[in-house]
Amino acid sequence: MATTIDYHKRNSENKLDYNVPLTREAFGHDFKWGVATAAYQIEGAVNEDGRSDCVWDVFARKKGKIRNGDHARQACDFYHRYEQDLELVKELGFGHFRFSLSWSRILPDGHGRVNQPGIDFYNKLIDKCISLRIEPWITLYHWDLPQALEKSGGWKNRRIVEWFAEYASVCALAFGDRVHNWIVLNEPMAVAGLGYTTGEHAPGNKGIHNFLPVVHHLALSQAEGGRVLRQILPDARIGNAISCSYVYPNSRSAADVRAARRADALMNRLFIEPALGLGYPKDAFPFLSNIKRFMREGDRERLKFDFDFWGLQNYFSVVVQHSYLAPVTWLKEVPATLRNVPTTALGWEISPAGMYEILKQFGRYKGVRELMISENGAAFKDKLKEGKVEDSGRRAYYQEYLSAVLKAKNEGLNITGYFAWTLLDNFEWAHGYSARFGLVFVDFKTQERTVKDSGRWFARFLKKVEI
Ligand code: BGC
Repeated sequence: MATTIDYHKRNSENKLDYNVPLTREAFGHDFKWGVATAAYQIEGAVNEDGRSDCVWDVFARKKGKIRNGDHARQACDFYHRYEQDLELVKELGFGHFRFSLSWSRILPDGHGRVNQPGIDFYNKLIDKCISLRIEPWITLYHWDLPQALEKSGGWKNRRIVEWFAEYASVCALAFGDRVHNWIVLNEPMAVAGLGYTTGEHAPGNKGIHNFLPVVHHLALSQAEGGRVLRQILPDARIGNAISCSYVYPNSRSAADVRAARRADALMNRLFIEPALGLGYPKDAFPFLSNIKRFMREGDRERLKFDFDFWGLQNYFSVVVQHSYLAPVTWLKEVPATLRNVPTTALGWEISPAGMYEILKQFGRYKGVRELMISENGAAFKDKLKEGKVEDSGRRAYYQEYLSAVLKAKNEGLNITGYFAWTLLDNFEWAHGYSARFGLVFVDFKTQERTVKDSGRWFARFLKKVEI
């Protein structure tokens, strides 16, 4: 019989011995400290200045897709409040601000006609960052596909590679004179898995038949986007941001260990390996061999791009076991809530050891030049009481995860930056406003902002000032 892994033991075995006190200086003077956001989650103003619908606008209008029937028509109203919000970024001590561009603000039909007011908005935002001496980081695509493109099949249609290349070139030409750091795609796995296979995210397409073509078109687009940016902006730093979670098998049985390798192929290897020229990770997950049906001559080369950096987005680790009930993957996750481990409000395991392990895992790729944490953060049930939000859980989460990053860095990994997710409580996709991830609390009725204790902690940590 398989021996079950004792999680308490695993946690204590994996207790990181940090040794070094957590200070800003310990990361080195050129380490980049930033905060990350995404257009759809904060901007609002969905019908303003010529923006067209994206897939999330349409998805949110359907019954039962978003918790409590929430929508992002106003979200954090960042479209109108970006100046004050950037001042908050400054106040918290961050020198880098990551935001994404709304494709349907810039190209309302997905391609072709450029909407100048959309360009103007991002120009003002970039200029405000620069005036505050905050370095702007652009993510080209953070899940808000123009609905016009979804009507033509969206990520299922191979023509998306051309549409995306056109969008990337419009953005590079418009903003590249002032923006040095670019991220091509945000978490393509979420698009393929949640958006086109389980249907939990927009556009809500369901079916395993969508998975492989969508993965392939995303993987081609990440490389193509990189090439377009590099051609137009030869001096820019170009990266890609992928989700990753260290995968533990539930037991030492061969079946669970193989299940963990399949989960690892899907969650961690799927998008980086084709870019590095290693192909899709079929060795661990033979189902991926079927992707050849969507490959054309020359695609193996087209999938490659030498990114300047890889952005890793890590929130939790996972435990998986073999399952006969899950055709295709033959695995299931053992939820953290059943494992007697600490979790966040979304039931995600708090696992700084997992952050450390996943960094080490990515550090082993030969073709990776530079790693950074492009997102990390946690949802907790925050309460605003007498003008304060005492979110000690989040503060501890950040301290522990940062210690794990520091340990991996001190062991020689080239980790050059860290972006907290996120500045403001915002539209957390299918969870609507029920999950709060911000360093700043937002009252969605009044749009009033209150810096949480975790935000104050960052200000002390980064600037050594009380705010
Ligand atoms: C996404 C964010 C999201 C965060 C927390 C990441 O997967 O890039 O948009 O809000 O996780 O769920």
